[in-house]
Parts: sequence; C-alpha cells; structure tokens
Amino acid sequence: MADGNLGAYNIEDLRRMAQRRLPRGIFEFVDRGTEDEVALCNNRMAFEEIKLKTHVLANVSTRSLETKIFGKTIKMPFGVAPTGTAGLLSYGGEVALAKAAAKAGIPCTVATNAMTPMEEIVDQAGGELWFQLYMWSDKELSLKFVDRVKSVGFETLIVTVDGAVASNREYNHRNGFEVPLKYTPRLVAQLLAKPGWLATCLLQQFIKRGVPKFENYPPELMDSLMSKSFKRSILKNDTLDWDDLKRLRDRWPGNLVIKGILHADDAAMAADCGADGVIVSNHGGRNLDASVAPIQILPEIAARVGGRMTVIVDSGFRRGTDVIKGLALGADLVMAGRPTLYGAAAGGEAGAYRALEIFREEIDRIMGLLGLHTVEEIGPDCLWRPTAVGDAIRAAAE
Ligand SMILES: Cc1cc2nc3c(=O)[nH]c(=O)nc-3n(C[C@H](O)[C@H](O)[C@H](O)COP(=O)(O)O)c2cc1C
Repeated sequence: MADGNLGAYNIEDLRRMAQRRLPRGIFEFVDRGTEDEVALCNNRMAFEEIKLKTHVLANVSTRSLETKIFGKTIKMPFGVAPTGTAGLLSYGGEVALAKAAAKAGIPCTVATNAMTPMEEIVDQAGGELWFQLYMWSDKELSLKFVDRVKSVGFETLIVTVDGAVASNREYNHRNGFEVPLKYTPRLVAQLLAKPGWLATCLLQQFIKRGVPKFENYPPELMDSLMSKSFKRSILKNDTLDWDDLKRLRDRWPGNLVIKGILHADDAAMAADCGADGVIVSNHGGRNLDASVAPIQILPEIAARVGGRMTVIVDSGFRRGTDVIKGLALGADLVMAGRPTLYGAAAGGEAGAYRALEIFREEIDRIMGLLGLHTVEEIGPDCLWRPTAVGDAIRAAAE
C-alpha cells in the first residue's frame, strides 16, 4: 500500500478499494440506489450541468476553508452524513468515522441505526458529533429516546423524514442482505469470498460484541427486531406529520434539523415549526428513484428559507467542485455519506480520514483556481448558467 494517501487520489479510488474488500451484498447495500438507479445517476449528472467561472490575478496565496455552523467554527464547509452501517465495513467503523471527522475538524453524524452505542462513540471519538433520529411507529418510545440523546450531550439533532415507507432496493433481496440478516447459502458464499474482511471485521465483531445489531435501539424494540414475528413496519412510520415535528421541537432543546427535504413549501413548514435547519437530500438516491437531485432543487429552497434557517445539502457530492457548487447555490454546509464509508471499508479510520483529506485538498485547490480566499466569497458569482438549472438559479435570485 502507498504511503499516507493509501494509494487513493480521489473518492472513486476509495470506492474501488471498498468494492475489492467487501462482500458483494454489503458493498451493494452501501453503493447502490433504488429500482433503476435513475436518481443515483442523476445526482451525479446534475453537477455536470453546472459550470463555474474563474476570477484571475486575485492573489490567492492565503486561503481559508473555515466556516461557521450553528455558531461553531469548523475547518471546512463539509460534514459526515448519518449512515447506519459503518460497523459492517470495518470493525468499530462508526468510531473510525467520528475520529476521522474530529481530526479533520468537521461535524460527524451518529445514526440511530449505528452498530456501536452512541455513548461509546462520544467517549472514544469526541469532536463535533450530531445525532440522527428515525422516529419509529411507537412515537412515545421515540420521544423517550430523544431524552437519552440529550443526556449523552448531543447538541444537534437531525430527524430524517424521507422514509415514510420502505424503499425498493431489489439488489438487497437478491443478495439476501436484509434486516434481520438471513444467512442464506448465497449470503454465506459472499461472506466467505472476502477472507480479509471476514477476519478483520466480522470475526472481530463476533468475538468482541457478538451478533451485529442496532446497538442504540431501546430493549423493547430490539426484542421485536430479533423475534420471528418481526415486521419492518415497526421501524418505519407512515403516520408521521407536522404535529409530530412540533412535539419533537418541544422536547428537544438543541438545534433541530429536518433531513430529506426536496420541496420549498416543506422547508418553509419546517421553519414555521421552529426547526433550525433543513438537509436538502434524496437519501443518496436510495429512496424515490424519480426524485429531483438535491443540487437541482437547492436554489429554490435556499431562496425560500436561506437566512431564516441553516440550509444543508447532500447526495452525490464526490469532488471539491461539487462542494463549491453546493455552496454557490445557497447551501451553508455540504454533507456526504458514501465517501467516508468507502474510506472506512478501504482502511478504517485512516481511510475515512483520507476521504475527508481528498475533499479538503480539492476544495482548497478549486478556491485557488476560482480566485477565492474565503468560504464567504463562494456565491452565485462563481456560477455560469446555461441550462435548466441556470433558469432555476436565476429565478431563485430574482
Ligand atoms: C449505507 C448507507 C446508510 C445510510 N443510513 C442512513 C441512516 O441511517 N439515516 C439517514 O438519515 N440517512 C442514511 N443514509 C443517507 C445518508 O445520510 C445521506 O443522505 C446520503 O448518503 C447522501 O448521499 P451520498 O452517499 O451520495 O453522499 C445512508 C446512506 C448510505 C449510503
């Protein structure tokens, strides 16, 4: 393996390394989208339609990537999105992600579905940790759970609202990669095909912690998850509405961020309910295959609620240029899920950190090429607008 950069020059390199290392079912669970993967592809293609303009002769010898989010200074305008599976990619993967983010000086989100207890992640990693909540069908249980999140010391709560019903990920059915895991001959064959991962991740997991499970779940939920009569519907909640959000607002004293917003009216509703921020997200193209790419709808949403609340965007960000485009279109912060997961699969904490380092190097380089010195200078002036996305940006600016 190469020196400090692990042999990875971009996020795609880390992705390929993850693919080589992981059993197929696990890699596809992380990497793929839903149904025909139109949203997954569109998330990437939408960036290509947006072009940047440069300013030259701007003496860019001093550049800073620092910015502020919820009153705190962070080292770059980027955060790690919640993903529940890092513990299946490398042993202790969630702690690895959080440590990498702490070292990079940026926020990292601990997921409800993490395979390491939230208390352990906080103790071992430190740094700016946020918590992501899925509200279960037992709403009272969810609100009690929020009290635990508060007592652990989290100050920012992200509630994910774009999964009212389960999405249709056909590859997971084919691979037998479902909750709870069924050890079918096909799945077992896939696991055995990757002895390196088996020895350093799954075996360690079994020896030190037992069967991988959602460690944050309250005992009553864990029991039904493990039982033979388990129904996915206990994890999904198609009855959630804006009144539930108001109840959550009353219960949670810290920053409240609504994740999975793709409509300006919903962003405005979230602000009316007292939320402090929204994450414009299509869950990385994993839920609704016909959904608009977050980067396409971002200008409309930022025009509606920007300034009134914090606007964050995720889904498909893989390059420094993508991050600059997100900020120029009105986001205060960009997040990504898969890049640090690829990194964690490729090389644990060092791999996750490498993913963040790639983003930092690329954002810094692009700022230099655009003639920019600070994150505050990134705005509509950087954009050239030939397309439908341009029309939306123009309309939003008017
Ligand atoms: C493997 C995986 C697991 C995820 N788990 C969660 C989760 O538990 N909660 C959540 O709000 N979002 C989850 N997400 C979505 C991410 O938070 C984020 O919205 C998405 O990954 C952004 O797209 P990107 O991967 O292209 O950056 C998950 C995404 C992936 C890839």
